[in-house]
Amino acid sequence: MDQSKPIGVLDSGVGGLSLFRTIREQLPNEALIYVADSGYAPYGDKCEAWIAERSAQVIAFLVGQGCKAVVIACNTITTVAVNRLRETFDIPIIAIEPAIKPAVAMTKSGVIAVMATTRTLSSESLQRLRNRVAGEVEVIFVPCPGLAERVESADLVSPEVHHLLTNLLTPALSKGADILVLGCTHYPFLTDAIQAVAGSGVQVVDPSAAVVEELKRKICALNMLAPCTNAGIATFWSSGGTAQAQVVVQSLLGYRQAISKLPEL
Ligand code: DGL
Repeated sequence: MDQSKPIGVLDSGVGGLSLFRTIREQLPNEALIYVADSGYAPYGDKCEAWIAERSAQVIAFLVGQGCKAVVIACNTITTVAVNRLRETFDIPIIAIEPAIKPAVAMTKSGVIAVMATTRTLSSESLQRLRNRVAGEVEVIFVPCPGLAERVESADLVSPEVHHLLTNLLTPALSKGADILVLGCTHYPFLTDAIQAVAGSGVQVVDPSAAVVEELKRKICALNMLAPCTNAGIATFWSSGGTAQAQVVVQSLLGYRQAISKLPEL
């Protein structure tokens, strides 16, 4: 195994950069290849078969680029297709999913809310997870159509975002939810706006750190960790317009990043 090979990271768009930045911090020597499928975002209102097929094509592209492992930085792909993808590819696949279990352990009011795409929340796997771990805790699912799109256009603080979040969150907050699980990787970029609507008594949970811990554990166990002499270069691909992607990525990550056009898959 050549440990200097890259790790692939994929999302329907730029949301997975919330996970990418934590990987970058925690594993600075790893070479990373990020695919933003922004030309086809959002995934959250597409059908399961389409998401499964498209994500398999993107992972095949990452495998073709020589990736030693892949991180699915998209809850929607995970909840719909992770089992099939793990059967299809023989490299390790680490995947983010809504952090319901830790939120259930944290709540004091006995009510938590999970913000995610419509597709994630209607998936069988998430319903099963809720049934398995919720116990006495009430778990309110809050589908957030339109929210990932705001992040895709780097609109994180406008009055429209505040208005949208107020409409989405008010029912769950009125029922006493004291934990909000960010079940879509686009939403950590809206943490300040979400916190402003929810108030300081509500805790917002982002599972990125836990997923990166899992990634680290897995690649160490498989003896895949990049040597500390590795430069840890990041390469970006987008299926959307690259000029627009450059502006959005710069505003989300805070630095300029060259982006190449993803070939037709
Ligand atoms: N960022 C994705 C997720 O974590 C999906 C957003 C979308 O494309 O709908 O679910």
